[in-house]
Amino acid sequence: MLYIYTIVYCLLIAPALSLLPDDDSSCYHRCFHQHAEACPPPGSLCRCRQLPNCKRAAVCCDVNKFTLTEGLGCGNISSDGLVEALHIRNATLDVLNITHPVWRRLRFMTITDGQIKQVVGEFAKHTIVSCLNLSSNGIQKFEPRSLVNLFNLSYLDLSNNNLTDVPRFKMEGAVTLDISQNPSMLCSSVKDILSRPEISFNNENSTTCSSAKTFQWFNSTEFLAISQLKLLHELEKNCFGKCTCEPYRLDMVMGKSPTFAVEVNCSGVKFENKLTSLPTPLPPRTVLLDISNNNITSLKELSDPSYQYLTYLYADNNQISSIQPLEGTAFMNNFESLSLRNNNIKTIETYLLSNIKFYRTAEPRHIKLGLNKLHCDCQTAMEFKVWLLTKIHRVPDYNEIVCENINAKVVELDQTKLCQGDQDWTDYIYYIITAEVLLLVGLIAKVSYDYWVFKTAGYLPWPASKMPKLPCDWLCE
Ligand SMILES: *[C@@H]1O[C@H](CO)[C@@H](O)[C@H](O)[C@H]1NC(C)=O
Ligand SMILES: *[C@@H]1O[C@H](CO)[C@@H](O)[C@H](O)[C@H]1NC(C)=O
Ligand SMILES: *[C@@H]1O[C@H](CO)[C@@H](O)[C@H](O)[C@H]1NC(C)=O
Ligand SMILES: *[C@@H]1O[C@H](CO)[C@@H](O)[C@H](O)[C@H]1NC(C)=O
Ligand SMILES: *[C@@H]1O[C@H](CO)[C@@H](O)[C@H](O)[C@H]1NC(C)=O
Ligand SMILES: *[C@@H]1O[C@H](CO)[C@@H](O)[C@H](O)[C@H]1NC(C)=O
Ligand SMILES: *[C@@H]1O[C@H](CO)[C@@H](O)[C@H](O)[C@H]1NC(C)=O
Ligand SMILES: *[C@@H]1O[C@H](CO)[C@@H](O)[C@H](O)[C@H]1NC(C)=O
Ligand SMILES: *[C@@H]1O[C@H](CO)[C@@H](O)[C@H](O)[C@H]1NC(C)=O
Ligand SMILES: *[C@@H]1O[C@H](CO)[C@@H](O)[C@H](O)[C@H]1NC(C)=O
Repeated sequence: MLYIYTIVYCLLIAPALSLLPDDDSSCYHRCFHQHAEACPPPGSLCRCRQLPNCKRAAVCCDVNKFTLTEGLGCGNISSDGLVEALHIRNATLDVLNITHPVWRRLRFMTITDGQIKQVVGEFAKHTIVSCLNLSSNGIQKFEPRSLVNLFNLSYLDLSNNNLTDVPRFKMEGAVTLDISQNPSMLCSSVKDILSRPEISFNNENSTTCSSAKTFQWFNSTEFLAISQLKLLHELEKNCFGKCTCEPYRLDMVMGKSPTFAVEVNCSGVKFENKLTSLPTPLPPRTVLLDISNNNITSLKELSDPSYQYLTYLYADNNQISSIQPLEGTAFMNNFESLSLRNNNIKTIETYLLSNIKFYRTAEPRHIKLGLNKLHCDCQTAMEFKVWLLTKIHRVPDYNEIVCENINAKVVELDQTKLCQGDQDWTDYIYYIITAEVLLLVGLIAKVSYDYWVFKTAGYLPWPASKMPKLPCDWLCE
């Protein structure tokens, strides 16, 4: 009998008993989360308790700094205890110090629906927490290294707090991150996360970030969705070689999802990577291109269709020799700012500039052409200088446009001096023409007088009478 009982015990009861503590797998799936009903009853002195059905899981509720320490003690939650899943609800703490040794045994750590200003300290090395849920606490700040030692982390829920940055966490391996409902979250911080392909977002559609301090291109604070931020990230990743592609502004059109106007900046490239032509094609909706400090020789790519939205072109310190390619481009109609300082321009086609309409707008169009050394002649003085003087407010560096052949600024060119040679020559032509006309009139008068004298008096006056007879004279007679 005893024998049979032993067998039955060994086969059925003992395994069942030994399974009991391990039976907790039903209590936590990926994370551990308990509702308020699981809390210790309101009258209970100990604010923590182990769950009746899950020996390795415990819940603490409505605690402050002191009752939490007490509760961990009376609830048997310690660094050498059994508990590996802990949910602390409604904790009111100024700081949560996660250097505490108790957390070392936890695999699931959930502290939610409370008021915690700051998280300080750092998890000890080899802490095995795989799901950390710190949602709904109004947390404003983490200490920089708080979470870096959580090498087993696979789920991090920081939703519904007041964070401005995503705290640093392990650099490698897949992590699901929930940072939804953090109204002050900065896009710069989220953007850094996007460059890590193994990070996925939970509640992506309700995750937004504030662009205000991140991108100077917003006047007001705008909230960007993750999907928009991903577009941005793509844009930056697929930029030309050493250039940077960034959003310039967000274009909102009612009833459509916002689109980015793009800014491409190639001005910072190193010596050996200098561009020799304008980049094509530009990313969609590029409005600003800065290619200063390169080795560009021509603007001919401006007629490329991808340049159709361009309104700001900064191409200072290049080798551009002509503004002729601007003719007929969309840029010439749209532009707000064109800067071609310190290039290789020798001649300015003034008619191109004269065609520009300078409307009175909030941000007036302007052109910079300073530090170019023009070949100055009468035409420069008669046309370009005149245009320049009428457009001084649109050409802020007019005073720096100089001549290469004369030691003079274009605005100070002396028209009478430069055009002197030309004027003498034209005057001379007039004199000749006048003399010729007078001579012709005199000749006709004399011939008519000779004819009249011949008809009335019958002789030819001098000098016609002294002229030798020519063969054709015989014909006349
Ligand atoms: C949270 O805990 C405090 C005591 O620490 C209590 O006064 C308050 O009512 C609790 N809030 C909720 C929503 O249970
Ligand atoms: C704590 O553990 C002791 C034995 O180690 C046990 O008697 C006590 O009931 C436990 N307390 C709780 C709250 O589970
Ligand atoms: C956190 O707790 C640890 C040990 O309990 C202590 O050494 C450390 O100074 C505390 N950190 C802060 C910021 O209070
Ligand atoms: C984390 O806690 C919040 C607040 O209690 C809850 O809504 C959310 O579902 C929890 N997250 C997970 C992954 O359990
Ligand atoms: C934590 O991760 C290590 C390897 O990174 C692994 O060996 C260990 O089993 C993990 N621990 C738990 C509790 O998942
Ligand atoms: C969030 O933090 C800011 C200061 O950083 C504070 O002004 C604001 O009241 C906080 N919001 C909440 C809901 O705690
Ligand atoms: C998030 O939004 C996208 C489109 O805006 C939609 O296709 C997707 O189903 C949404 N996902 C969730 C989880 O609601
Ligand atoms: C937004 O722009 C307008 C005009 O450009 C300026 O007056 C205002 O101060 C700006 N607001 C902010 C918050 O920068
Ligand atoms: C382009 O980048 C350089 C430095 O990287 C910066 O000085 C310049 O202002 C930027 N251009 C524009 C138009 O923002
Ligand atoms: C610019 O291009 C010219 C030839 O077009 C070359 O001689 C010069 O070295 C280049 N300068 C730089 C800085 O690359």
